[in-house]
Amino acid sequence: MEENTIICRCEDLTLADIRATIKKGFHNPQEIKRLTRCGMGPCQGSTCRELLLKEVASATGKNVGDLEMTTFRPPNKPIKVKSIMMGVE
Ligand code: FES
Repeated sequence: MEENTIICRCEDLTLADIRATIKKGFHNPQEIKRLTRCGMGPCQGSTCRELLLKEVASATGKNVGDLEMTTFRPPNKPIKVKSIMMGVE
């Protein structure tokens, strides 16, 4: 991947942004998430979480499975108040 490849679409983060953070000594995906906001967008990391883990694994020589998974919440989507009152979406 090229340095300008977008890793997190929601937060507009590139591979270079992630690599710069790793280069500063941050190797914990949760720390990187909090520093860069990678995975904090509306999709809650559905795309970028795996890419972040792969990049950290590649930089540290660890397996992706050995890394701590970042926390995430279910994605939000706007719904109408009427839908809540009627019990439908
Ligand atoms: S792509 Fe990273 S939070 Fe959506």
